Amino acid sequence: MASQSLPRFLYGGDYNPDQWPREVWDEDVRLFRLASINVATVAVFSWARLQPHEERFDFDWLDEIMDRLHTNGIAACLGTATAVPPAWLCQRYPGILPVTIDGQKRQFGQRMQFCPNSPDYRRATQRMARAMAERYAKHPALIMWHVANEYGPYCYCDTCAEAFRQWLRERYGSLDEVNRRWYTSFWGHTFYDWDQIVPPSHLSEEFTRGEWEGTAFQGISLDYRRFMSDSNLACYLGERQVLKEIAPHIPVTTNLMGHYKPLDYFKWAPYLDVIAWDSYPTNKDDASNIALRHDLMRSLKKQPFLLMEQTPSQQNWQAYNQLKRPGQMRLWSYQAIAHGSDAVMFFQLRRSRGACEKFHGALISHAGHENTRVFHECATLGEELERIGDDILGSASPARVGIIFDWENWWAVELSNGPSVALKYLPKIQKHYRAFFRRNVAVDFLPEEADFAGHDLIVAPVMYMVKPGVARRLEEFVRSGGTFVTTFFSGIVDDADLVTMGGYPGELRSLLGIWAEEIDALFPEQSNRLVLEEPFGAVRGEYQCGLLCDLIHLEGARALARYGEDFYAGRPAVTENSFGAGKAYYLASDPDEAFLEAFFAELCRVKGIDPVLETPKGVEAVQRVKGDRVFTFVLNHNPEPVEVDLGAEIQQDLLSGSEVSGRATIPGRGVLILRRE
Ligand code: GLA
Ligand code: ZN
Repeated sequence: MASQSLPRFLYGGDYNPDQWPREVWDEDVRLFRLASINVATVAVFSWARLQPHEERFDFDWLDEIMDRLHTNGIAACLGTATAVPPAWLCQRYPGILPVTIDGQKRQFGQRMQFCPNSPDYRRATQRMARAMAERYAKHPALIMWHVANEYGPYCYCDTCAEAFRQWLRERYGSLDEVNRRWYTSFWGHTFYDWDQIVPPSHLSEEFTRGEWEGTAFQGISLDYRRFMSDSNLACYLGERQVLKEIAPHIPVTTNLMGHYKPLDYFKWAPYLDVIAWDSYPTNKDDASNIALRHDLMRSLKKQPFLLMEQTPSQQNWQAYNQLKRPGQMRLWSYQAIAHGSDAVMFFQLRRSRGACEKFHGALISHAGHENTRVFHECATLGEELERIGDDILGSASPARVGIIFDWENWWAVELSNGPSVALKYLPKIQKHYRAFFRRNVAVDFLPEEADFAGHDLIVAPVMYMVKPGVARRLEEFVRSGGTFVTTFFSGIVDDADLVTMGGYPGELRSLLGIWAEEIDALFPEQSNRLVLEEPFGAVRGEYQCGLLCDLIHLEGARALARYGEDFYAGRPAVTENSFGAGKAYYLASDPDEAFLEAFFAELCRVKGIDPVLETPKGVEAVQRVKGDRVFTFVLNHNPEPVEVDLGAEIQQDLLSGSEVSGRATIPGRGVLILRRE
């Protein structure tokens, strides 16, 4: 689906005037203009106010807000208002309220609290979306639809159980196939009738033990996640369809949440005209993790995205809501832009007076005026973006490295009982990503279904599940010259979590030229050593490894490193296999970061994948490209000034307007945007 381009670089955020008396509205707009705000997200939570009764809509206040925004040159990102089903609706149609994984029927409360398969919910949300579209499709302020808010709820009610059975019928055709795929011959769980299938909840197959969420049957639990992701998507699509019917010219989106486990966003992406997402790091988050989430969101469509929400200062819902330090909001805004954002938007523009978000940061604080640090920082950023934003708007983010990040694999890895409770997917993705981030090498994320040909180096950390056809496509990729790296606990199961027989790593075996006979799980305090046979670029000597150790045999590959400890000391631990014109590598254990950094540096060197810049610790360099123009963002995440070598070429710094080259000092949390024509 083609993305619809934006008229301008967006700067603004969530605005909830329905929480405030009309007297405040004039002051809001005055302050927005003072801060160069050009977009406001409105009506996200306004269903109760807009439809106070089943047969009555009240749009007067929103008409006034929309007009007021337009008159002041501020565009509207208009919510469909369906993020909270009103109390009257839940009372009249109790089927809208979901049932938890523990089997409890929820009551009215919170938000986005609905059963995604409730026909009443679907009908009511579509009706609301229709009313909004009919009213505002032609309003000159409208630039985008914001459907509901942060989708995600899973439900375990009888309606969902029935819809699940239907979903299974469509996916598998017969109950025999369901029994086969779910391996119900184990523990005598055979189903004889579709009606015997119930959702995998804490009343049936699933359980929590400490922090571990497990299941007795991975097959049904995997399918329920696929089904719930699809069910939420169907709610979004129901609204989207109505909006497209009435206002086909207006882009439709909903706000995503980065690596949010419950929803398979790669499956959602084709139905969002532009990806929008909410970024809420803590001050303890490593800069690489923030960058990773932006890259993942950009990768969903491989197009610029919108930073739909961030706080100007602090959150309220984390355990410790530290203020963003002076300069940090600006730095993180530019980091988002550097990774592909065409917007900087806040939650929210005016801080609530009551309820749970009264301590959430906002452009306008409880003090109510512009004489605050936060307002000042936002207004300064607004001025800058007004000056430079449209220059950058729509530029691309080229990357030659692809990391496979796959939601179904994520679910499967963590639903698995054994070999180690410490094996979590996301930290392994983060660790591999960090090795590229630290060297300023751009990365895209790819699902297993992706076309691999667009990248030169593909890294698949913990690719436990290999979906049908993927191994063959990876072989083609390597045969025609690509480099592929995968790790321990890869190639183990198919898309139903059934083990690929004949030895691990199953379908990846001939590509990697090895087979793994056993998998050892180490206790947290244990480690092993990777001992290099001979230097491999800057990879030399010894490194630590741990978590899992595969006991592998060579079947054509050569060992680059061997284990240094235990009864398998001397057996291969890192291997290289020549396959056609390319190479495939296997990391049989979880190495330390020093190893990964040096190892990927060598693979990049061989492939001619150069860093954007070589920078000191804590300084990130990222590029966006528009035609012949290259924008190089240099971001100093350190609180202190740092000297960076920008290279011999003279370039213009968009922010200061001055020409720079060679060694330059970047202030603490400072940013340069170098433009090369
Ligand atoms: C989410 C929501 C917003 C708001 C913020 C607070 O991103 O979409 O409505 O609650 O969190 O951080
Ligand atoms: Zn339900």
